Amino acid sequence: MLTTDLKLVLPSAHYRESFLAAYEECSSLEKNDWIYLGPDGNEELIYNRFDEYVAMFYEREHTAPSHFVRGRAYWALADNEIVGRIGLRFELNDFLSNYGGHIGYIVRPSARGNGVATAMLAQVLATPEAQRIGRMLLTCDEDNIASERVIRKNGGVYESMVYPVGRRLGKKRFWITLAGNP
Ligand SMILES: CC(C)(COP(=O)(O)OP(=O)(O)OC[C@H]1O[C@@H](n2cnc3c(N)ncnc32)[C@H](O)[C@@H]1OP(=O)(O)O)[C@@H](O)C(=O)NCCC(=O)NCCS
Repeated sequence: MLTTDLKLVLPSAHYRESFLAAYEECSSLEKNDWIYLGPDGNEELIYNRFDEYVAMFYEREHTAPSHFVRGRAYWALADNEIVGRIGLRFELNDFLSNYGGHIGYIVRPSARGNGVATAMLAQVLATPEAQRIGRMLLTCDEDNIASERVIRKNGGVYESMVYPVGRRLGKKRFWITLAGNP
């Protein structure tokens, strides 16, 4: 797979089969992250009401349920197959300002180790929506070496480690300052 051919698209029912095949590859711990709707996302929704699922992302650009923020979801395509998803949050709440940051991503297991996450993040950082935010907070678990590399390769500068209540692992915080921002 050539990551130069990677293309970010907005969610669409057109990619249903590929999205579900990728979901099935995810481990049980990763499945909810792949769906990316928090408690509103579930297997019944993606298998039986895919159009509704897709519509929820468009709604979330304008309105977020409580405890969530507005944002945009992108799917990454290579050879017309979905290989990853990446979400940009337009604003941060208390939780995200400490632990979650502006961007979250996951790569389909069979597509890992090919530069997909690095390329997805680079492409999102180049969008007008990210440019408007200017200074982006990114976080990863202290033992997530691959994610840390993705962040650092996209200009992430380490700031600190924080310890979410009830979690064994610390979260590393990084800042990416986009060109033209102080
Ligand atoms: C973390 C994740 C997004 C990385 O995606 P990816 O497409 O495989 O990443 P890339 O191919 O762009 O690799 C980025 C770097 O990590 C390194 N890397 C990849 N997998 C690795 C692993 N298992 N262990 C150590 N380093 C690894 C790569 O070598 C590369 O570094 P390099 O350029 O110095 O060689 C992917 O493993 C994933 O989806 N994990 C589960 C969800 C997750 O952790 N999301 C991030 C939450 S913060």
